[in-house]
Amino acid sequence: MSTPHVPFGTATRPADWWRTAVVYQVYPRSFADSDGDGVGDLPGITAHLEHLERLGVDVLWLSPVYRSPMDDNGYDISDYQDVDPVFGTLADLDELITGCHARGIRLVMDLVVNHTSDEHPWFVESRDPTSPKRDWYWWRPPRPGHAPGTPGAEPTNWESVFSGPAWELDEATGEYYLHLFSRKQPDLNWENPDVRRAVYAMMRWWVDRGVDGFRMDVIDLISRDPRLPDGVVPPGGHYGPSHAAVLNGPRLEEYLAEMNREVGLGAGHLLTVGEMPGSTIELARRVTDPARRELDMVFTFQHVDLDVRPGGAKWDTVPVPLPALKATLAAWQEGLADVGWNSLYWNNHDQPRAVTRFGDDSPEHRVSSAKTLGTVLHLHRGTPYVYQGEELGMTNASFTSIDDYRDIESIRFHAEATAAGVPEETVLRALALKGRDNARTPMQWDAGPNAGFTTGVPWLAVNANHDSINAAAAEADPASVFNHYRALIALRHEHPLVVDGRFELLLPDHPQLWVFTRSAAGRALVVLANCSSQPAPVDAGALPLLDGSTVLLATHPGRDGLDLLPWESRVVELLSRP
Ligand code: GLC
Repeated sequence: MSTPHVPFGTATRPADWWRTAVVYQVYPRSFADSDGDGVGDLPGITAHLEHLERLGVDVLWLSPVYRSPMDDNGYDISDYQDVDPVFGTLADLDELITGCHARGIRLVMDLVVNHTSDEHPWFVESRDPTSPKRDWYWWRPPRPGHAPGTPGAEPTNWESVFSGPAWELDEATGEYYLHLFSRKQPDLNWENPDVRRAVYAMMRWWVDRGVDGFRMDVIDLISRDPRLPDGVVPPGGHYGPSHAAVLNGPRLEEYLAEMNREVGLGAGHLLTVGEMPGSTIELARRVTDPARRELDMVFTFQHVDLDVRPGGAKWDTVPVPLPALKATLAAWQEGLADVGWNSLYWNNHDQPRAVTRFGDDSPEHRVSSAKTLGTVLHLHRGTPYVYQGEELGMTNASFTSIDDYRDIESIRFHAEATAAGVPEETVLRALALKGRDNARTPMQWDAGPNAGFTTGVPWLAVNANHDSINAAAAEADPASVFNHYRALIALRHEHPLVVDGRFELLLPDHPQLWVFTRSAAGRALVVLANCSSQPAPVDAGALPLLDGSTVLLATHPGRDGLDLLPWESRVVELLSRP
């Protein structure tokens, strides 16, 4: 029997309630395992809701728990309206929704509708060329003049994000189907109105079940030029040569507006956030313009792609100077200052851990750098996202063998690169830096066996540093990253300037300091952060603003000099703006 959900403020919540909210992302596989099979599950999440409540977050975004062959850990869905047995049952999900709502936390589902699993009944039917479902996917004959299966016979030159061509030959019919991700993730054809109708009906079913919104997986891929032109290499980014031809397609905004209307997303005050790896500021501004009723916010990739060598793949990394990072975030702040809304993130299940990547995960600086990164991000204007373990300052995995990795992207990259002659050591170094499994090691609950994540054998190794980095220790320590995040979240809830103050970047070229103001109606906050592992003297003359200020939050409470320690940061309030 499923537990009916508690209706939670649907009627009364303001349309833009998410402006004051902080979202916490749970990657269910790695959060908490309740039954000892080594894989996290829904009852595990429900049992740990107190952690989220203590942190003070408003929304839980649940990465996919739908039925799936798990080729891409659940981002390959074979039944949108059921829970995979590895995660539990629909009744367990209802219980999680009820548990969240009882604590004042809303629940947002992951919506993966650019593609399904190849085991979804729609695709299984579509394999038959005479089926009405044939046109639900992108089936195409080989390139003219090429026999099926011969080199170069793929209908376009598009590459899969997970290496190799984006087309898979079906021997039975001699036709290829499109899969921008793995061959087990065939792309849906959104040109077909029946596909769109089926997706909207499924979304309404979830809304009726009590969910409070959707995080939309690679939503900027759903529309494409039906002529399927060969691709052009886009500058930067980790999307391959194909993607200039498939990102931000001609009907994207039409589909988003239609979805919003048909599902009642805006009308129901549901949270919508689109993952848009190819979004420009201009597109984000249009898509998140409330008057257009498309999406509430988008995830940009520009700041997390800064370490990609221009024209390279995600594995070809270059150092990111602080001024470039500051400028990227500032450009989005300015671009969406008057219309639209930002989402703010350092981490998710696809990105390496921020404290390793942008901070300093050495024992000396880990805590301060995790806090300072949190401060800088949460004090920008937009809705912040916290990815599980970020609030503990969890670090990259430090894996040293390909056998440690589980992610399809990492495994395929390793196979392809080593086959092409790249030294194994180079490949492993790239994986240790950028591999998605860095984000997916199990949540570190305590110092006990397997960090309290499971009583069985974890599906992915637990980080050895869980003996010191774990939730139990962090919750008990007033100076922990956890308690700093808690204070940051409380500050957003209490201080209107954190939500709405206008953003202005100061000292844009400073190589160590990240300084900005948030101001409105003669009042201002100043964020002063040393984003480096060396001390940074601040020239008081450069910041006359700081006179007569009150410190609201600091990594090193009690210090007020302007010679900042490594990774020291402060949020100060100016009582009157000069
Ligand atoms: C998104 C997801 C990622 C997944 C991909 C394909 O980028 O965040 O985990 O592999 O889409 O669904």
